[in-house]
Amino acid sequence: MTDLAGKYRTYRLLGPFRNEVYTSEPANVEYILKTNFPNYGKGDYNNGLLRDLLGDGIFAVDGEKWRQQRKVSSYEFSTRVLRDFSSVVFRKNVGKLANILSEAANANEIVDIQDLFLKSTLDSIFKVAFGVELDSMCGTNAEGKAFTTAFDDASAATLFRYVDIFWKIKKFLNIGSEAALKKNIKVVDNFVYKLIHNKADQMRNSKDDDSSMKKDDILSRFLQVGDTDPTYLRDIILNFIIAGKDTTAATLSWFIYMLCEHPDVQEKIAQEVKEATNKMNEVKDFSEFAASITEESFEKMNYLHAAITETLRLYPAVPVDAKLCLSDDTLPDGFNVRKGDMVAYQPYAMGRMKFIWGDDAEEFKPERWLDENGMFRPENPFKFTAFQAGPRICLGKEFAYRQMKIFSAVLLHYFMFKLGDANKKVTYRTMINLHIDGGLHVRAFHRC
Ligand code: HEM
Repeated sequence: MTDLAGKYRTYRLLGPFRNEVYTSEPANVEYILKTNFPNYGKGDYNNGLLRDLLGDGIFAVDGEKWRQQRKVSSYEFSTRVLRDFSSVVFRKNVGKLANILSEAANANEIVDIQDLFLKSTLDSIFKVAFGVELDSMCGTNAEGKAFTTAFDDASAATLFRYVDIFWKIKKFLNIGSEAALKKNIKVVDNFVYKLIHNKADQMRNSKDDDSSMKKDDILSRFLQVGDTDPTYLRDIILNFIIAGKDTTAATLSWFIYMLCEHPDVQEKIAQEVKEATNKMNEVKDFSEFAASITEESFEKMNYLHAAITETLRLYPAVPVDAKLCLSDDTLPDGFNVRKGDMVAYQPYAMGRMKFIWGDDAEEFKPERWLDENGMFRPENPFKFTAFQAGPRICLGKEFAYRQMKIFSAVLLHYFMFKLGDANKKVTYRTMINLHIDGGLHVRAFHRC
């Protein structure tokens, strides 16, 4: 697709059921995502595929249902309570991760760091969403483990529907992948509804709360303002979990991969973290160090921010993002699209286009994001599309950067990373999120 995008900024693939239009032209992207936003949505097609797992959650719907959830969720994500609570969770989880890496470094063992990031980010978003310790990192919660497996399998089966033309028949007959999907959704639902009911009971029973942490997770906050319909709560919160876990973990994995390929960048970040935290040399353990980095220090880490953003430019967690065209239209570059066409913009291909980024488009250069004073300089979101743009821009962008910066700062302060096998090709797995195929196997070395 990247090769095709290099030849044609917009092109059409003819299909038996619908035509697919792919564009990497920023003017078209702006038109689809903002100027004529109402004409490009999830549509009944995506909704039908996603509904069993995602319900009426923000990812699966358009129109009023979307608007209402967007409003509630935007408010929630902008609150100080959520910011502070999530930072505490991120700091604690990176402490756990660093302990595991430390043991691996002592034993000179290779670890699959993508697997560790996947567990850690799931634990983070789960704690922030439900206030419950899932602990998939250490595997201490058996029920949580069953939920995680069922949830991952259900997500994979939902994606499989996009290429399985027989899914509706299988669903009707309750056989094969659809029977498994139904079973897994039941496991997910039982677990989630139990958490919702427990929390609602807890809130009813607790009189005046002494523990502030108990009220800071998203579920508690929804319950406090009176949204108690369990299905609504299940849908809204499960969608956050889907949105938040794999995207952040995949990005952190590609980031570590880029740092292994560019040791000079790795050293520069370690140096930046050291300078931003230089008064904290006496700190003893990882969690204490993580807890003691101030928000202001993170704000100062412009190079780290640039390196994460550069990773997302080349390895966007959502590599292709498709919408359904709801009525005949003409894109700004003159390309005609028909009602029912799938219209997609391509963050992965766009990150590699010379006409957008210049001749060095395919090179990893964090400096391209910095101004002459070393301050981070954002790009036009219709060129840098990793977080989408317009009214449906990623709601968790700031949340994701905070988690990624906390994780990176702690890990790079204490460890240096090298690929486990420098000759092994690192490439992506073809799926909706851009995971590293087979994981990322690295060696961590203690820094001091
Ligand atoms: C590096 C990390 C992330 C990337 C690259 C990313 C990217 C994206 C993209 C491309 C979309 C549009 C998807 C679509 O077409 O429906 C999106 C939507 C969304 N993201 Fe993220 N995301 C990240 C992390 C997160 C996190 C951590 C959360 C929540 C905790 C989150 C919450 C959401 C939500 C709720 C939406 C739906 C917005 C809407 O439809 O109005 N994201 N994200």
